[in-house]
Amino acid sequence: MRAIGALLGGWLLVAGTAIAQTAIRYNAAEHVWQISAGQMSYALGVNDKQSLQTLYWGPRLDPAASFPQPKQLPEAASFDPGIASSPIEYTGWGGGLPYEATLKISFPDGNRSLQLQFVDAKVTGDELEITLKDSLAPVFIRLFYHAYPEGILARWSRVENRGKQPLTVEQAGSATWNLPPRATYDLSSLTGRWGAEWQLQTEALYPGEVVLESRRGSTSHQVNPWFSIGSRGETTEAAGPVWFGELGWSGSWRITVEQTHADAVRITGGYNPFDFSYPLAPGESLETPKFYAGYTSGGNGEASRILHRFQRQQILPQRPHPKPRPIIFNSWEATEFKVDEAGQIALAEKAARLGVERLVIDDGWFGQRNTDHAGLGDWTVNPQKFPHGLKPVIDRVRALGMDFGIWVEPEMVNPDSDLYRKHPDWAMNFPGRPRTEARNQLLLNLARPDVRQYVFGWLDKLVSENDIAFLKWDYNRNWSEPGWDAVPLAQQKEIYVRYVENLYGILADLRKKHPQLEIESCSGGGGRVDLGILQHTDEVWPSDNTDALDRLVIQDGFTHAYSPNLMMAWVTDVPNFLDRRVIPLDFRFLVAMSGSLGIGGNLNNWTPEELSTATRLTAFYKEIRPTVQFGQLHRLLRPGGPEGRETSALQYVSDDGKSSVVFAYLHSQHFGRPFPTLRLQGLDPAGMYRLSPLDPKKLVIASPDPNASPERNGSQERNGSQLMGEGINLALSGDYAATAVRLERIR
Ligand code: DGJ
Repeated sequence: MRAIGALLGGWLLVAGTAIAQTAIRYNAAEHVWQISAGQMSYALGVNDKQSLQTLYWGPRLDPAASFPQPKQLPEAASFDPGIASSPIEYTGWGGGLPYEATLKISFPDGNRSLQLQFVDAKVTGDELEITLKDSLAPVFIRLFYHAYPEGILARWSRVENRGKQPLTVEQAGSATWNLPPRATYDLSSLTGRWGAEWQLQTEALYPGEVVLESRRGSTSHQVNPWFSIGSRGETTEAAGPVWFGELGWSGSWRITVEQTHADAVRITGGYNPFDFSYPLAPGESLETPKFYAGYTSGGNGEASRILHRFQRQQILPQRPHPKPRPIIFNSWEATEFKVDEAGQIALAEKAARLGVERLVIDDGWFGQRNTDHAGLGDWTVNPQKFPHGLKPVIDRVRALGMDFGIWVEPEMVNPDSDLYRKHPDWAMNFPGRPRTEARNQLLLNLARPDVRQYVFGWLDKLVSENDIAFLKWDYNRNWSEPGWDAVPLAQQKEIYVRYVENLYGILADLRKKHPQLEIESCSGGGGRVDLGILQHTDEVWPSDNTDALDRLVIQDGFTHAYSPNLMMAWVTDVPNFLDRRVIPLDFRFLVAMSGSLGIGGNLNNWTPEELSTATRLTAFYKEIRPTVQFGQLHRLLRPGGPEGRETSALQYVSDDGKSSVVFAYLHSQHFGRPFPTLRLQGLDPAGMYRLSPLDPKKLVIASPDPNASPERNGSQERNGSQLMGEGINLALSGDYAATAVRLERIR
């Protein structure tokens, strides 16, 4: 059954019937649970060996759907045990399991084998909790399932040592997801590096294992903890089955995607087992991060829209109705470390005239921070740059009608800092070994309670003493020597878990004490974007790469996994610092306007024409902002790849269907090819829409004959079926030409 309706007052209209958006049902006769969430159903059951198995993950089922009793598959050959092909819901390593285990434990007597059996289950509202136990040892595993109406199921687990002996968890996954067995899946992931994050990769799955992971102590630029699996030859942007998910963890993580030799496909994710070890004394437990997943029959576009809606309504700190992201001005590319009172006030005055709503002073305002060699850790205002503290700048910014934000990098220390001179032991290190620097900095060991207290203390003071609405929380290196010699040897590797727990703890405490404070997660660009950090932060900085052409690809990849309102995008100066490319200002604006708009150029150097273009476009952005930030995104023409080299286009439709906006980008015209006709999506075929082009000369309403002379118009009215069938044509030519068209539903 496929969802064809909209979310209506807490009920989902599916094939004409109003049914609850989420439901968890238990069928005692079959010993089966069926969980439904939005467009998806998921079922699991217990077999006669008390083994918990996945029975179904796919389109939403009729509530009365029944399932055959789950069976452990028989041995196919002495080399292929039944356990290898059976869709075990949560695997403990043992019994000859030749594939990834969700959980691996070692006991003090040398035993390292588990056989997990069902004990009991409990349903509370939208949550199912199942308890498993090892057949011999008093190790209990609680499996949690939470169904969300947007069509997402969250799974996580807790390992409990209820015995009298200590044990060590060597590997702890949140969940294993079993897909319907098939040999023709394609896996998509998001890979990259600094300045080139969010590159969408799609590859065929075949027997073997794909490992998506970060061993770096944080989420990473290199791979994001997101996956999406489609059916080869069937799944497209607009249609076809997609199984997708993302982990909520900002430390080292791992997701493995395995296709067994019998074409069973399993996805396991959670803590990265690399260098991992977590001791559990009697009575102790370890909880894993949440692993969220969904299913849609509506293609990759719909999978993204489900995630976007879910993040806004269930994850972000201001859920379920996050505030619109303000238009910011950020000082980094404009003045780098050369920030001072007069310079920032001058920029603030120019920014305010453009319609900017928040001024953010980036790196350089504290300690002896004149380059990236010194100052991190010394979080007091630099008296040469700001002789009267931050107050005069903040007062001026407020008087100009904006609010104020500031950059911090709380987890780091430069060896050239008073903090390091006082507390060298606070930096993560292995005793006696060299401390590897990156960008001339070391990591503070946030797992230490005293470091946590120090970091919270100065942040709280900074925000309490100044009128600060926003922190840009940066993090500019990976881990190198993850030592923690202040605790007993057996506990030292807990650093991987405790560091991140304390990071979340500081963010949560800060928000609790300062409820109006908003925070951006930045890590030298998009190195820390995941559903864990997003429970504590309002937006992210996807990349330090601000070149508008590269950004189209980066933003396309980003929106596969994360909502456009999270995606900060600045208009910066040309030639771009990274690739020296020169792109016209309106194109740069139109690219940034498809996310949360910001300005990062040096306004002192902008010409009157550029300032007036910027003023016009920020005003336009304010009109379309709710649709862009909170609407449904349709990637009409994706950039990159063979078809998207020359052109790309996006469309956003507001949740109520009343407004829409189309962005069209001609990267580079070849052989005089006209811009492709854009067939719009997500409109009501029977609705009537008024089209208001940003540049009336560029909108040409589709004509059945593409060679017919273009009728260039301003505002026009068309019905939804025409706009989605015939589409619209845009008169874009040359290189770096872009425009936007607004649509308002008039009846
Ligand atoms: C890395 C960030 O991504 C940049 O935007 C900027 O804040 C610099 N750090 C400052 O050091």
